[in-house]
Amino acid sequence: MAEKITVSLIKADVGSIAGHSRPHPRMMEVASEALGRAVRDGLLVDYYVTRCGDDMQLLMTHRHGENNKEVHGLAWNAFMAAASEAKKMHLYAAGQDLLSDAFSGNVRGQGPGAAEMEFEERPTEPMLVLMADKCGPAAYSLPVAKIFMDPFTTTGLVIDPRAHQGYDIEIVDVVDHKKVLMSSPAELYDILALLGDTTRYAVKRVLHRTIGTSAVISTEKLNMLAGKYVGKDDPVMLVRCQSGFPAVGEVLQPFAFPQLVAGWMRGSHYGAWYPCGVDQSDPSYYDGPPRVCALGIQVSNGKLQGAEMPGSKPGDHKFIDYFAGKEWDYVRNKAMDISIYMRGHGPFMPGIVPPEDLEYTTRPEILKKLEPRMQPL
Ligand code: 13P
Ligand code: 13P
Ligand code: MG
Ligand code: MG
Repeated sequence: MAEKITVSLIKADVGSIAGHSRPHPRMMEVASEALGRAVRDGLLVDYYVTRCGDDMQLLMTHRHGENNKEVHGLAWNAFMAAASEAKKMHLYAAGQDLLSDAFSGNVRGQGPGAAEMEFEERPTEPMLVLMADKCGPAAYSLPVAKIFMDPFTTTGLVIDPRAHQGYDIEIVDVVDHKKVLMSSPAELYDILALLGDTTRYAVKRVLHRTIGTSAVISTEKLNMLAGKYVGKDDPVMLVRCQSGFPAVGEVLQPFAFPQLVAGWMRGSHYGAWYPCGVDQSDPSYYDGPPRVCALGIQVSNGKLQGAEMPGSKPGDHKFIDYFAGKEWDYVRNKAMDISIYMRGHGPFMPGIVPPEDLEYTTRPEILKKLEPRMQPL
């Protein structure tokens, strides 16, 4: 049996420049140095450090499986080192997502988000790395529903004999901390009845019944930690593509619809999801609009293959930045139209998220203050 490889994408916002924009290059550098040492020490096979908006992304390959203590510890320490650089420079929100003083053995529930999958490499292993900023955990539900369940998006469901059987979808109830595995297309309408509620349900994993995991998202149960909900914002998704899984183009197609996602300014508004290149992911309009980036990578014997030149060093990859191209200007323009329209609502719903999902609120104090003046109707 071929050796299994694990791809771990662990992300955190540990500080940024002039508001919630982007990490300082020095922060990326210290994180890269930490992961580079781990390659030399044999813990990792390969790595790449990137970002989407203010979220730093550690893409790592290794042979230690999901939720490995050493790999999570490495990610935690890389974020700590980056946060310490951010603190030295007095950057904004330095250490924002490191919500615990001590590492507990796993980054889950401590602030960072993690999407990880262990698999036996196919003869060729094309993958997509999707990264979002300024949006909530259920943002990928609609695209996942289209990619894996909608034959009008993924023609492969109709014409590829390997995709024709459909997929199993693991759905998490992030509020009541439950999960359920459901089968598409047999339970399609039941699946959509859950996923349509983006305040409670989110996809964790998509499985092909014989080939294995196709997609995994950094979805976590919502936990109150340090007086704040964690495991929530700016999710990432890994997708294995082609040959029984959806083609790369089938995975990217749903992002041409700039769906409304919860997040944006103060994590409390609905904005249109804006696909862009990594270098264009600075939140430039009202701390947004919510962004999504897609990097195309190849994994071979655990190495990340990009378009780098001979002689380039580990970590120094050039991947396919799928949303960077001009084709996506059309979608970006539409997303801006919709986001400006949504801003027209100011602090009124549906411009803002429902009261229980607001990340900040003054309402309890206001109601308390008004209590003596409240009259029965
Ligand atoms: P090729 O025939 O170029 O390999 O493409 C197949 C495919 O999957 C296109 O979506
Ligand atoms: P981040 O979650 O990306 O740090 O953004 C927070 C925010 O409040 C933006 O307005
Ligand atoms: Mg931030
Ligand atoms: Mg962010």
